Amino acid sequence: MAIPVALCFLMVGESLADHLMSQLIRVVGSLNMDLVVQVPHQPIPGETVLGSDYITYPGGKGANQAVAAARAGGQVQMWGAIGSDGFGHSLRENLQQNGVDTEQLQTFPGPSGLALITVDPSGQNRIVVSPGANGRYTPEHLPPFTPAALLLLQLEIPLPTVLAVAEQAFAQGIPILLNPAPIQPLPGSLLRQVRYLVLNESEAAQLTQLPIETSAQALIAAQRLQEQGIPSVMITLGGAGLVWVDGVEKGYLPAYRVPVVDTTAAGDGFCGALAAGLVAGGSLKQALRFASAAAALAVTRAGAQPSLAHRAEIEAFLAEQRYF
Ligand code: RIB
Repeated sequence: MAIPVALCFLMVGESLADHLMSQLIRVVGSLNMDLVVQVPHQPIPGETVLGSDYITYPGGKGANQAVAAARAGGQVQMWGAIGSDGFGHSLRENLQQNGVDTEQLQTFPGPSGLALITVDPSGQNRIVVSPGANGRYTPEHLPPFTPAALLLLQLEIPLPTVLAVAEQAFAQGIPILLNPAPIQPLPGSLLRQVRYLVLNESEAAQLTQLPIETSAQALIAAQRLQEQGIPSVMITLGGAGLVWVDGVEKGYLPAYRVPVVDTTAAGDGFCGALAAGLVAGGSLKQALRFASAAAALAVTRAGAQPSLAHRAEIEAFLAEQRYF
């Protein structure tokens, strides 16, 4: 009897449904339409700056990380909410085109999430988010939590929803990767449920109240966060690379040198690719290298989701590098 190829990879006693769930990355988070304008410089308070024509890009930290994980080879499902406007329709369609399962994505009457973004010639951005449907995605909208390999969370949906879904995942032993952006004070109970914490230097400085101007200071902050019960902490330092602590191991990885066009969603590209790398079964260090390459590729291109790298490009990019 012929055995279907997919079944050849099943473990003894494992059903196909179990196998698929064992690879699933579930993202619970935000979806925004980004309205982006290139500006000669960022306006100071009270100043009006003339910029380029605006461009709309699908964005939102949750959706960006879902697309990044899917393009990096992950099997991804997105939970969250869009509005009943045209932006909501495009945001759902875009996720589907990227192979993300949107079965549990809910549509609420009213506007979708919207981000107003200005990007200056150095590629740095300023972002204002109007949460729309994301802000109305409260705990009672969460579907029952089913098995997954990893839960990927950010903070662009209400904190009670993040706490409720983390609670359920933790109770089922599902590892949680938290990217606490935009940063806000977090209860110790949440931090103790997190397996992987990924944050940038300003978020880490706010969370720890420690100064972070050097990689040595970032390492101290990462260790401080680890003392709160998080096994693995990674602090990204933009063009200066990243530091990580994992159990008793710790380290520094330099950033890949690339031309910077637009830094929007580079952190999301990092988190999504890291999730895909971890679920694929590599070591944390291998997954970090993969994620750094994904982030480097993202800054070379404009926009949030259009800038996110596919697995083949990430692998080709890594193959060209001379270091780590
Ligand atoms: O991290 C980048 C994202 O932040 C943008 O896509 C924007 O929507 C905001 O959520």
